Amino acid sequence: MSTGCVLVAAGSGTRLAAGSPKAFVVLDGRPLLVHAAERVLRSGVCQHLVLVVPDGRQDESTALVSGLAGAEGVVLRAVAGGADRRSSVAAGLAALPADVDVVLVHDAARCLTPPEQVAEVERAVRTGAAAVVPGVPVSDTVRAVDVEGVPRGGPIDRTSLRLVQTPQGFRREVIERAHALASEHGLPAALAATDDASLAELLGAPVTVVPGREEAFKVTRPLDLALATAVLAQERA
Ligand code: CTP
Ligand code: MG
Repeated sequence: MSTGCVLVAAGSGTRLAAGSPKAFVVLDGRPLLVHAAERVLRSGVCQHLVLVVPDGRQDESTALVSGLAGAEGVVLRAVAGGADRRSSVAAGLAALPADVDVVLVHDAARCLTPPEQVAEVERAVRTGAAAVVPGVPVSDTVRAVDVEGVPRGGPIDRTSLRLVQTPQGFRREVIERAHALASEHGLPAALAATDDASLAELLGAPVTVVPGREEAFKVTRPLDLALATAVLAQERA
């Protein structure tokens, strides 16, 4: 039995608008994909790592990651992603060998996720959870509004809310069944962009929330790259 991580890195990075696919945008001299993979490898919990990248960039991606510390003894593969995140995750799942029983699904865009977070999610699955997500408290006041921006109801009690990050961890059969169901039957529009744990929940699998970390924020817009640069500088200080 072993743990496999599907690292999805096949998105185009439209909102970052940096001129290349987001996972290949350089931060402090190295692509985001390399930062993300390095932290997954440093967690020491994965025996298999599948990089899901834009088609044509598989060899380049394997070469970038294979020399990283922690890559020794880890089976590395790179496969082409799909048109949306869900199909990229599905392509990664299909590349996992039979002996993998715990699967982590991680966004390369969360490139500074601490190795401890990867290890904690993995441990929660190993010790019995079906589906695990890291979540961080919400610090802003949150309101629901209608299409015109007019408030609906009062402010929402943010103490009960969590911003959900990755890696998300699953017993293999749970994530595989969830993706099979979504691709067989499709999803209502409201659920089309949902995360992997929400797919698993549609099957009735309970989702466990473990504490996330601020450093696992997703690089989405240009300001996030500035934050990532600052976080790396702080790590080195
Ligand atoms: N992703 C993927 N395949 C896709 C779309 C997204 O592998 N077809 C991955 C991205 O590479 C990223 C993660 O899913 O690591 C989260 O997606 P997001 O932050 O939305 O990245 P992009 O889709 O690249 O960005 P944008 O939505 O701004 O285009
Ligand atoms: Mg996207």
